[in-house]
Amino acid sequence: MPAPLILAHRGASAAAPENTLVAYELAIEQGADGLEIDVHPTRDGHLVSIHDDSVDRTTDGRGRVTELTLAEIRQLDAGSGFSPDFRGVPVPTLDEVLDLTARHGLVLNIEVKDIYRHDAAYDGAAEAAAEAVLARVLAEQVVFSSFNHTSMAELKSRHPELTTGLLMMMPLHEVGAYARTTGADALHPALAALTPALITQAREANLAVNAWTIAPPFSPLPEEEQLRAMWAAGVDAVITNIPDVAVAQRAELA
Ligand code: G3P
Ligand code: CA
Repeated sequence: MPAPLILAHRGASAAAPENTLVAYELAIEQGADGLEIDVHPTRDGHLVSIHDDSVDRTTDGRGRVTELTLAEIRQLDAGSGFSPDFRGVPVPTLDEVLDLTARHGLVLNIEVKDIYRHDAAYDGAAEAAAEAVLARVLAEQVVFSSFNHTSMAELKSRHPELTTGLLMMMPLHEVGAYARTTGADALHPALAALTPALITQAREANLAVNAWTIAPPFSPLPEEEQLRAMWAAGVDAVITNIPDVAVAQRAELA
């Protein structure tokens, strides 16, 4: 069985400002096999790599991503809030991350944040991301994921050649059978959802299991321990804020 992949969650986000090119480049230096990024649409229809639906937490600006233009977002500082060392680091576009992916032969997990169903701006977000990936012939390197499983099912039905994963925080009943109804290729559970039943059903349904760690203080279990539980469960990939630690742990397992 191949060694599990290590994908850097929002980049090497424990050591650099999340969802920025510096966090992605650091993850590559640390030996990650790929990246996990979040994408939202801007008011003028571009996709940017940022976690929240507003720029408030991670930049020096204010407002919802869907109400700001790309030019307005590009003026923001997405680095200083993490540390003055990263002053002026911008919010990247999906296109920039795709260029990085192509340049380094990375695996890229694009989490489409289309869970804001009250905002029509998100309706075409998954499709726009898919078109950007297909235009660069990067489909084989990219896994799409979302907590919006309907969106992933619709994406898969429009583009069977794309790889899709279902994000989950908690165990789902009959998860293998459920995932098959969406055409998904992978399950993306947090540790709480990574049950023995999920592993068994994923194997039966030929689904990859790409598990993600939750950073403190949002998880009571240190990320290092979450990772150890994930290796032990037999996952295909870990998605983690500490790819350097994951790389060291994986080497110990080999
Ligand atoms: O891809 C897993 C994880 O990123 C989902 O949660 O909130 O960190 O985007 P969040
Ligand atoms: Ca994410």
